[in-house]
Amino acid sequence: MTDKTILRALRGEVQPVPPVWMMRQAGRYLPEYRATRAKAGDFLSLCYTPDLAAEVTLQPIRRYGFDAAILFADILLLPQALGTDLWFETGEGPRLSPVTTAAGVAALRGKDDIHDRLAPIYETVKILARELPRETTLIGFAGAPWTVATYMIAGRGTPDQGPAHRLIAEDRATFEALIARITEATIEYLSAQIEAGAEVIKLFDSWAGSLKGQDFDDFAVAPVRRIIAALKERHPGLPVIAFPREAGENYAGFARRTGADCVALDTSVSADWAARAVQIDGCVQGNLDPRLMVTGGSELVAETRRIVRAFSGGAHIFNLGHGITPEADPDNVALMIEAIRQG
Ligand code: CP3
Repeated sequence: MTDKTILRALRGEVQPVPPVWMMRQAGRYLPEYRATRAKAGDFLSLCYTPDLAAEVTLQPIRRYGFDAAILFADILLLPQALGTDLWFETGEGPRLSPVTTAAGVAALRGKDDIHDRLAPIYETVKILARELPRETTLIGFAGAPWTVATYMIAGRGTPDQGPAHRLIAEDRATFEALIARITEATIEYLSAQIEAGAEVIKLFDSWAGSLKGQDFDDFAVAPVRRIIAALKERHPGLPVIAFPREAGENYAGFARRTGADCVALDTSVSADWAARAVQIDGCVQGNLDPRLMVTGGSELVAETRRIVRAFSGGAHIFNLGHGITPEADPDNVALMIEAIRQG
């Protein structure tokens, strides 16, 4: 049995002070991150240089003493390992060579042929497992298949995931084949992270909210359930956090339906509702509005305390509802942590 606060929360333990970490805690709001990224040259080189990726992962731990560190990488490294081109347009976000046809899906690499490309990521995990403080939990991650598929199909981020929805409507077999390929590769990728030392896995389904009805069940629930079952079979006791962002009412029952140990909440659901509807099934994570990390002040403190109170009857990991943004003030992070830990 471990004393690590995050692992205790994931076992369902109610703690007087919830453990805390932040999505994108290693990121552009920190001057030390910007300096290390400049040293690496660009974002992708930073992801693929284990010493530097480990360094940026550790920076927010040193500065704030978060209860968890999340591996520094990106959900789009897996499509790249499957054979798609990936690059980042400055100020615009990711670009990939689109996969929209049966032939395109068939040309992707197999699930066992991804590890050469991803070896530096496993090396980063190994360094972190060695260097993190004893009390800090190491979180590995991947994108959930639906969100990864939306980027692979469109070749970029889109406001409404239109190209992926169109492929579902026009060529469901190809879409399903793509989801299956991503799902099986994700299991291998995450298993390798766990073998390298990741203690918890988080699945990011940033665009789950654009799936409705049966599509939500087929593409946000089923692949995540398959990944969690496979990982838990290979690594008994492994805790998993699932983040079906903007799932709304579909947050209720999501843990039960997928086998996740914890459901991460975005800011579109209220903490009071989620305490009643989601936390009854186990641990929840969330859900402070990242905008408050820009504006700070008494509103940040009051809102932090309100969320802690709303979830105080069950297991809770404090986090933001989405990633911290580049405009955030590093001092506001310290203010949030103080409000959590000192009440
Ligand atoms: O949370 C962490 O600190 C761990 C590392 C991490 C990154 N991306 C680093 C990153 C994680 C877990 C992700 C997940 C990710 N990546 C998601 C799911 C979560 C979410 O944000 O909804 C998605 C959709 C991506 C794809 C992605 N990567 C986009 C759309 C972008 C561009 C938008 C942006 O924020 O700049 C990225 C780039 C990215 N990934 C950055 C970081 C720190 C910024 C890169 C930089 O330094 O310029």
